[in-house]
Amino acid sequence: MSKSYYLTTPIYYVNDKPHIGHAYTTLACDALARFKRLDGFDVMFLTGTDEHGQKVQKSAEDKGIDPKTFTDQVSQNFRDLTATLNFTNDDFIRTTEERHYKSCQKLWNTLIENGDIYLGSYAGWYAVRGEAFYAESEITDGKAPSGAPVEWVEEPSYFFRLSAYQDKLLAHYDANPDFVAPKSRLNEVRSFVAGGLNDLSVSRASFSWGVPVPGDDAHVMYVWLDALTNYITAAGYGQDDEADRFPSRWPADLHMVGKDIVRFHAVYWPAFLMAAGVPLPKRVYAHGWWTNEGQKISKSLGNVIDPVDIAETYGLDQMRYFLLREVPFGNDGDFSHNAMVHRMNGDLANDLGNLSQRVLSMIFKNCDGVMPSKPAALAEADETILKEVDGLLERQRYHYDNQQFHEALKDIWDVVSAANRYVDDMAPWALRKTDFDRMGDVLWVLAETLRQVAILIQPVMPEASAAMLDQLVVPDDARGFDQLGQGSHMQGGQAIDKPVPIFPRYVEEESA
Ligand code: MSP
Repeated sequence: MSKSYYLTTPIYYVNDKPHIGHAYTTLACDALARFKRLDGFDVMFLTGTDEHGQKVQKSAEDKGIDPKTFTDQVSQNFRDLTATLNFTNDDFIRTTEERHYKSCQKLWNTLIENGDIYLGSYAGWYAVRGEAFYAESEITDGKAPSGAPVEWVEEPSYFFRLSAYQDKLLAHYDANPDFVAPKSRLNEVRSFVAGGLNDLSVSRASFSWGVPVPGDDAHVMYVWLDALTNYITAAGYGQDDEADRFPSRWPADLHMVGKDIVRFHAVYWPAFLMAAGVPLPKRVYAHGWWTNEGQKISKSLGNVIDPVDIAETYGLDQMRYFLLREVPFGNDGDFSHNAMVHRMNGDLANDLGNLSQRVLSMIFKNCDGVMPSKPAALAEADETILKEVDGLLERQRYHYDNQQFHEALKDIWDVVSAANRYVDDMAPWALRKTDFDRMGDVLWVLAETLRQVAILIQPVMPEASAAMLDQLVVPDDARGFDQLGQGSHMQGGQAIDKPVPIFPRYVEEESA
């Protein structure tokens, strides 16, 4: 049986248009999902939309439509975005689906049976933006620490016995130091839990847009309990075929989230699962936030970045590369035109694009359009660079398993730089006259380097890498990671076409 890998994005609130922050979380997962598939894993990659709650109900009311019609429309925008940005999610879950109601209700009933939910009444602060409860001590000037305005809520409510899970959670963090990453987030979560946990209100009675609480129609489930459950719904929990699917899919290998929602994923979610007797996900990774030209991104500032515009302006693969290369994954980052153009023209057009174009042009012109054959013997310089190339996969695996996408790309570009130095040192254009066979060997080393590089950048730049591999005449079924390394070196001999540049340069428009 093949190794399996299950990863998830947060499910997105439908009160908003998708923006660069949403695209970023899903992109990181997409790169990882593609990487694992190429590496032979049976992958399940889940994304979707979070459609209940007071905020969504309000947004629908503001538009004068019922919440179902509203969520149908906005959810579709998110679904469309996945196709536009070339995301390869295997499922798209909506919390308004029947399968999700079943799963939430099964979880609820299990928590009731296990004595972890009880009826009480809530009196306290609630932020509709973020859908979170806050203690008096967390409120300053009518605002939550997230900056969201809060309102006073007083209503009957079911509570989850979160306080009973403090020690179990701490023990889990200690026994599984990779459960939350980066380390700084684990520390943050740990000190929050160590500070003491109050029982958590898990139902609302003052509005109706949610999953009904089984046996009590006056309540809907708290939207975060409902939302988090999506991860098990899609794996088969509470479904008719649960026994066939759930044990082989769950626990998830990775929940990718933004830093703002780590508490929900690393405290509440594992506590719910412990209480239900369901295994915990293996890891929660919290990435940082993007600003736009140095400014916080917000609707009120009017500086929300539409990922579709960015992809149209700079190119989709260029955007994907930029987002994963520019900022150490886990840190905050700034999106700026200059930085984008710098990466696009530097790393892509100059470093990799020119290399590929030069090498293939030389082969096309000087070798009658036929790829040189694998050399019988290699020179020391050839071995040095090939050793670097052949060793890439192992380090890529390490970086991807640690969600360090920028490091993975940096390692590949170190090899690209080495190949650029090699081509200058070997000067195959001069060898053409002095040592034609040696020229062929040098071009083969370079083409072999490009082949492995193109295979390895597929997770981040699926279209550009496909174009490179097409130009190298690598068959579709020879593009997996089993084709990397010394044992899989290309034999050569295939006829190639006249190459065309793969990475365009961004040319600034003349200012009027
Ligand atoms: N619906 C909840 C998640 C429920 S998961 C069980 C939610 N939705 S959200 O639409 O508000 O946010 C989804 C993700 O987008 C979060 O991971 C958040 O961190 C991310 N981002 C929103 N703005 C962002 C930036 N400016 N930069 C990077 N990511 C940001 O929270």
